Amino acid sequence: MPQAFREEKKPKKILVVDDQKIVRHFMTTVLERHGYQFQTADNGIEGIARAKELKPDLIYLDLMMPLMDGFETCRTLKKDPLMWHIPIIMITASSDRDSRLKALDCGVNDFLNKPVDPVELMLRTKNLLRVKEFDDFLREYTVVLDAEVRKRTESLNSTNAALSDSRRELKQGYIDTVHKLTMIAEHKDVDTAAHIKRVGYLSAFLAGVIGWDQDGVETIFYASPMHDIGKVAIPADILLKPGKLTREEFVLMKTHASVGASILKGSQSSILRMAERIAFTHHERWDGGGYPSGVKAAEIPVEGSIMNIVDQYDALRSHRPYKPPFSHAKAVEIITQGNGRTEPAHFNPVIMAAFKDNHKEFARIYDEHSAGERTA
Ligand code: C2E
Ligand code: SIN
Ligand code: FE
Repeated sequence: MPQAFREEKKPKKILVVDDQKIVRHFMTTVLERHGYQFQTADNGIEGIARAKELKPDLIYLDLMMPLMDGFETCRTLKKDPLMWHIPIIMITASSDRDSRLKALDCGVNDFLNKPVDPVELMLRTKNLLRVKEFDDFLREYTVVLDAEVRKRTESLNSTNAALSDSRRELKQGYIDTVHKLTMIAEHKDVDTAAHIKRVGYLSAFLAGVIGWDQDGVETIFYASPMHDIGKVAIPADILLKPGKLTREEFVLMKTHASVGASILKGSQSSILRMAERIAFTHHERWDGGGYPSGVKAAEIPVEGSIMNIVDQYDALRSHRPYKPPFSHAKAVEIITQGNGRTEPAHFNPVIMAAFKDNHKEFARIYDEHSAGERTA
């Protein structure tokens, strides 16, 4: 198993780059109290050198520094193939939109406001370390798989049949693993495979109805269950909150779409590439009122629109910490007639029509794959 997911956990290493001694001291005191290892640097050039030798899991980077400012430091780190994957949190006193946009453009992953609040510091630290752990896992797993495929290709170049069998086996193992990670991300029992399968079957069914070929149908079957993998970055007390989310909690919750896409990006696999698009766009709405981008109509990839309706049907039918399960009739009514929160104008009309014409099959698939769950 790749390094990142072995049982014994190595202490996480954090690098704090800030020219103000008092900030460095305050942050390292808090981090040390929580058991993190750390190093510090007081300017960008030293920061880059430290990052090279330490290989930290996370970098806190000040914006205004002598010699090399935070923008330039970040850009340099993100260009280095050995360091571009290390998350960077920019420490900044400025809430000024332009400098934040510029920082994001340099590849900054998150912000921490000055004066530093210890609770916020720990929240951001934990979240980004968790995302990095997933990232490392997927990256290492892909490397292992590629090597394995090459090895088997060499030893099996005799028979094509055996080769395609072993590829299929590898692919299945890969997909199983990613699905297990999805379960962990959503704080679901790792054994409730029903939820994963259901989302896959419902998406594949709709894709087939609107005329996708068998290849596409198979790809969305495997890709769709990963749509919420970005929830790994959402604190469990928000994810499992029994009541309505506050405005701030929902702002954080909405980041699961782009976080998921960034976890899944960069793969050769057509499944993971579709999964990335689905993660990124499954909460967009046809009328442009969705998130994270607010794109509308045909700007939304069809697989994102398929996932959007499947996700809502599945959420409406299922028990959630914040809602009871609804009946099939009630779920269909909410989607096709609206209820204030959900409106028909949110959905791709072609997919909505396919859903309306085939809603009975939705109920059948849902019921077939909901063994052991609380349903209405
Ligand atoms: P989820 O629970 O998987 O729900 C996915 C989507 O299904 C929601 O996206 C929403 O479009 C739809 N949906 C779920 N429940 C209902 C409902 O009771 N009525 C209607 N009309 N639609 C519903 P949305 O709103 O963007 O939420 C994304 C995620 O944020 C949810 O995923 C869930 O994890 C979380 N969330 C949303 N609202 C709450 C809440 O009030 N409390 C808690 N604890 N989490 C919430
Ligand atoms: C995989 O390696 O997961 C499948 C490859 C593909 O999507 O074509
Ligand atoms: Fe989602």
